[in-house]
Amino acid sequence: MPRLTLANTVLAITVFSFTSLQVSADQNNAQTELTQQAKQLVAQFAGQLKPQLKQALQSGGAAHAVDVCAETAPAIAQNLSVESGWIIRRTSDKSRNPEAQADTWEQARIDAFKAAVLADDTQGLEYSEQTTEGFRYAKAQLTEGLCLTCHGKQLADSTKTALKTFYPEDRAKGYELGEVRGIFSLTKPVKPK
Ligand code: HEC
Repeated sequence: MPRLTLANTVLAITVFSFTSLQVSADQNNAQTELTQQAKQLVAQFAGQLKPQLKQALQSGGAAHAVDVCAETAPAIAQNLSVESGWIIRRTSDKSRNPEAQADTWEQARIDAFKAAVLADDTQGLEYSEQTTEGFRYAKAQLTEGLCLTCHGKQLADSTKTALKTFYPEDRAKGYELGEVRGIFSLTKPVKPK
């Protein structure tokens, strides 16, 4: 009898650990799948925005491109959000648009991405996690040459004027190449039960 009990216990433990392994494997698969979706959406977002920005800069200069950025970027994010069911934003610790100020979770990501940049750790420039609000994904957006026209230390007067008109509380100037300008921040909200 004691033997049987032991066997049962072993069996129970084995079944239990298989089940929990299975559950965590399923969770991992789901998270990998969501991370892939998020990456793809970021690629789509950047893939639509950058050419429009470049084109606007070439055809009308920075002052005109500010317009494009102010209207096109949020519109692209909005369209992709509607299509995908994800909440898609760009945020920053020093935002230009006051609505793009990072929340607590995003701020933690930005701090970690800044540390990763300093450590030359390119793997550390994205992050995903299941939270109580939903599955969240963040990817660093670094400052490139193109960005300095509107986010750098020296801006043309016409650019400054255009920025002032749209963004009187602009904090997104003075960046240098390679710095973390902000993040793509995506959330797949938990479905209401
Ligand atoms: C033509 C000027 C211009 C250029 C060039 C430009 N931006 Fe911006 N950027 C803006 C404007 C205007 C906004 C505010 C958009 C809005 O209202 O949502 C903005 C907003 C952002 C935001 C959202 C957070 C915030 O500060 O409001 C990020 C992140 C960002 N830019 C990154 C970049 C990066 C990275 C580049 C280079 C690849 C770049 N920008 C190039 C004008 C520009």
